[in-house]
Amino acid sequence: MLLLHLSDVDEAGWAEGFRTALGTYPVVRRGDDFDPAAVRYIFVWKPRPDAFDGLSGLKAVLSLGAGVDALLKHEQLPDVPVVRFVDEDLSQRMSDYVVAHVTMHHRLYTRFRADQKARRWSQLYPPAASETTVGIMGMGVLGQDAARRLAPLGFTLRSWSRTEKQVDGVESFVGTEQFDAFLAGTDILVNLLPLTPETTGILNYETFSKLARERLDGGPVIINAARGGHQREADIVRALGDGTLAAASLDVFETEPLPADSALWAIENCYITPHIAAISSEASGVRYFSDIIRAHEAGQQLINVVDRARGY
Ligand code: NDP
Ligand code: OXD
Repeated sequence: MLLLHLSDVDEAGWAEGFRTALGTYPVVRRGDDFDPAAVRYIFVWKPRPDAFDGLSGLKAVLSLGAGVDALLKHEQLPDVPVVRFVDEDLSQRMSDYVVAHVTMHHRLYTRFRADQKARRWSQLYPPAASETTVGIMGMGVLGQDAARRLAPLGFTLRSWSRTEKQVDGVESFVGTEQFDAFLAGTDILVNLLPLTPETTGILNYETFSKLARERLDGGPVIINAARGGHQREADIVRALGDGTLAAASLDVFETEPLPADSALWAIENCYITPHIAAISSEASGVRYFSDIIRAHEAGQQLINVVDRARGY
């Protein structure tokens, strides 16, 4: 039996999708009449504190989110495998966001928009893409997809991860020892890390001060599409104000929704989106998790299981 426990999304729609995909396999929602001990899989998004109560026969927790930082903090999370969402469509959507913001900043959008407002004709030629280095923090599923889509546009690419990566045309930097060297050559910093104790607050003033300053007019830029917990918003406000950063694109925030009194809202060179960089689509999510359930019930291994010790 599959139990759905989804908050803030159309749970009924997902349930219908799973029922169609799984045929006679029982699919239930919280209000339905069922025996909790018969539940083998629970599909969750923002599970409530009692989400796992009575699920004594559980085989796996299936996470609608690609990021599992909040789920791993759930105090009653059972000791069964957690399977996260990994999906081409999700990766494509994230890369759409990353490419849009990288190209916008590379072409000095902030400067030319200010010039337009001031009715100022001021010719300044942006560097070629090849003269602009995009540094991707987090070279997992999403980081690698973003790199693959940025490469044909001609950008110089580098990445930072825990273990070395061999991706064509991307210079790999590894671990805390190489973090400063990675930053020193980066003009546009893209964050696609998971949120763990090691990565919390990594987007801070000290990090921003270490980025390259000589190539992009106005200074370096950050793009955070991962988690709000990665960024120190007071430091971003300071860095955008004193020129340490030329601009910031932020899709995620320390507190979501971003409070109305946040200073970030009013900053011209801060580009805010409300955690919409990439969404897990219902059609591909149903297909992905139905395949996993069917395969597991047929005796195959689960895929994309989260390493709880690493935190991602
Ligand atoms: P993956 O787990 O596939 O990749 C994580 C990458 O981060 C890996 O390359 C890993 O290194 C690296 N990493 C982890 N910890 C460290 C560290 N301490 N130092 C250096 N590198 C580290 O994750 P995804 O690519 O699938 O997703 C990334 C994040 O994107 C998610 O966790 C989620 O928070 C966020 N997200 C945001 C969305 C949005 O709409 N804004 C939508 C979907 C996801 P290694 O490979 O060496 O292990
Ligand atoms: C995710 C997200 O992690 O939407 O999937 O943020």
